[in-house]
Amino acid sequence: MVFLRLKWISADLLASVCHMKRAVCPGSFDPVTLGHLDIIERASAQFDEVVIAVLVNRTKSSMFTVQERMEMIAKTTAHLPNIRVDSWSGLLVEYCKSNDIQSIVKGLRAVTDFDYELQMAQVNLQASGVETMFMATAPAHSFLSSSLVKELAHYGGDVSSMVPKIVNEALKARVAESGN
Ligand code: PNS
Repeated sequence: MVFLRLKWISADLLASVCHMKRAVCPGSFDPVTLGHLDIIERASAQFDEVVIAVLVNRTKSSMFTVQERMEMIAKTTAHLPNIRVDSWSGLLVEYCKSNDIQSIVKGLRAVTDFDYELQMAQVNLQASGVETMFMATAPAHSFLSSSLVKELAHYGGDVSSMVPKIVNEALKARVAESGN
């Protein structure tokens, strides 16, 4: 009897230990910036596993393919043991459901992000019960966006302080290829 009870307790304990706290950092990541990486690193310290999901944003055209974006993220997060990189082209909440993800992590740069992000968080909560957690972007990155980086790079601006080295190289190569 004692043995059986102990067995029951240990199975219960095992189940709770095994239930990993998993979050997703979704975005276009076209390309990943130092602002994204700051949020990813801080999220990785809060969860057992963080999936960086490259999603298709239907309102934006992209400079890099999904595969290229995933490779850049994988290379620049290789030092973080609990990060996985994936892609998805459907609803974010469907991805969360099929991957046992309980939380969405988003960076908030400024009040201008807030309306849109709040709306998405509320829709996602209502649709699925998945929580969205907002992290304040570090002040050093508050002006930074992938769109701004692409615009600067397009006109030959120096974006080396805004993106990892491999992304800077990839941007220069893509701009040179496009020839304008
Ligand atoms: O980096 P972005 O482009 O600002 O990221 C926006 C993204 C891709 C996270 C958002 O558009 C998204 O979640 N798209 C997936 C489709 C979806 O779930 N849409 C409903 C949101 S309410």
